[in-house]
Amino acid sequence: MNNDNTSIVILGATGDLTSRKLVPALFSLYRREKLPAEWRIVGYARREWDDAFFRETLRSWAEKAADFDAAAWERFAERLHYVRGDLTSPDDYRSLNAALDRMEAGEANRLYYLAISPEYYEAVIEQLRDAGMANETETYRRIVIEKPFGYDLASAVALNRTLHRAFSEGQVYRIDHYLGKETVQNLLFFRFANAIFEPIWNRNYIDHVQITVAETVDVEHRAGYYDKSGVMRDMFQNHLMQLLSLVALEPPASSDANSLRNEKVKVLRALRPVAITDTVRAQYAGYTATAGIDPASATPTFAAIKLFVDNWRWMDVPFYLRSGKAMAKKVSEIVVQFRRPPHLFFNLPPGKKLHPNILSMCIQPDEGIHLRFQAKVPNSPNEVQPVVMEFHFSSTFEGALPDAYERLLLDAMQGDAALFTREDEIELSWRMIDNVLAGWASPGAPPMLTYAPGTWGPDDAEMLLADDGRRWRIHCGEH
Ligand code: BG6
Repeated sequence: MNNDNTSIVILGATGDLTSRKLVPALFSLYRREKLPAEWRIVGYARREWDDAFFRETLRSWAEKAADFDAAAWERFAERLHYVRGDLTSPDDYRSLNAALDRMEAGEANRLYYLAISPEYYEAVIEQLRDAGMANETETYRRIVIEKPFGYDLASAVALNRTLHRAFSEGQVYRIDHYLGKETVQNLLFFRFANAIFEPIWNRNYIDHVQITVAETVDVEHRAGYYDKSGVMRDMFQNHLMQLLSLVALEPPASSDANSLRNEKVKVLRALRPVAITDTVRAQYAGYTATAGIDPASATPTFAAIKLFVDNWRWMDVPFYLRSGKAMAKKVSEIVVQFRRPPHLFFNLPPGKKLHPNILSMCIQPDEGIHLRFQAKVPNSPNEVQPVVMEFHFSSTFEGALPDAYERLLLDAMQGDAALFTREDEIELSWRMIDNVLAGWASPGAPPMLTYAPGTWGPDDAEMLLADDGRRWRIHCGEH
């Protein structure tokens, strides 16, 4: 397909995703000369804006970047356009299509980015189809969809159906911005570009895996969305399930999108239904006093669950997952704890025991990898001490890590869907989430607990591991 002439069409362009994420990412791609030879960004939304106002608004955001380059922005901004239109009006889509045809002056690719509230997804997809804007000829028509993709399994299936009445699966790019993070991609390189870890990456050597995605921010200004979603839909269905799949998957045969996604799907298919007694849910104190939150809300802002992947590699190895808002620290970390040595011939000092080997992968912040092992304390006959080998992206590589959206937008334009979620992955993750949510709604469910903001969640989350003789660990940023 001709890749040289491309229109990036942002539907819902006046929302804050456009100014906060999409345009800064596109501007950075422009400065790194990664955009196609011919390109334009066309914002589409209902507000009475024009090109000048659109450019001005986006500039006020772009200027916040430390390395803002005013001259480059002027050149970039010339290719920003705004078309006013309603998300549900067929006439307006016809006008948008005509405006795009004029700007493109010939055959051009189109990347439609849905930066809109999810209740409009189906309407917009149908409008694009009815206006003939989804049909591919010589050039591509792709659609990028933000999360949340559905509210539960049934709505995700319905949305996939609507999508496929307009676009084939190959035209669809479902975003999970965690997959755009360098450190998340590095998980695959760590596992499969090295020979030393994969032979021990299984139930024979790994005691358990922990995944923590903790945030210090609370619900902020997103009450309307968040109170209907809660942490399971907002974080587990997508980001945590993706991290789990990447840690657990079998080596893909090639780097093409479907090889990788097939392996992720196999992990999700192998998930054992979660025992509701292996879950903890909680809400931070003060949540219901937030403007826009139902004072009687029972939406969890924290959850911890124990999962099992029932396959040859992972049988009976627990995967403990937790995520929450208003927690003690912003950190996303994957901890792999190894089994203890089978036999000790050293006489450790009385009361001393060996600490297990820990591999901790810091997704953010202080991105890197830590490996903890034992060392003999010098000048002692038999004392050991845990020590850590560390790799930090910041001290090894120059420059800040790129924002996830840069990579994802570029991949979508280049037709590489490896870092996007396929239809079946979405549906299998929802199946897991729906099970937990149904369990929480049934008699015998664990109670909704409260935790103080700025903590690691309720004590029951500690008990989930303590009952198994384990404890949560955070190593990132601790050394
Ligand atoms: C989003 C969630 O998908 O991820 C937010 O909707 C959350 O609630 C955010 O804050 C976390 O992303 P990151 O990249 O800051 O870890």
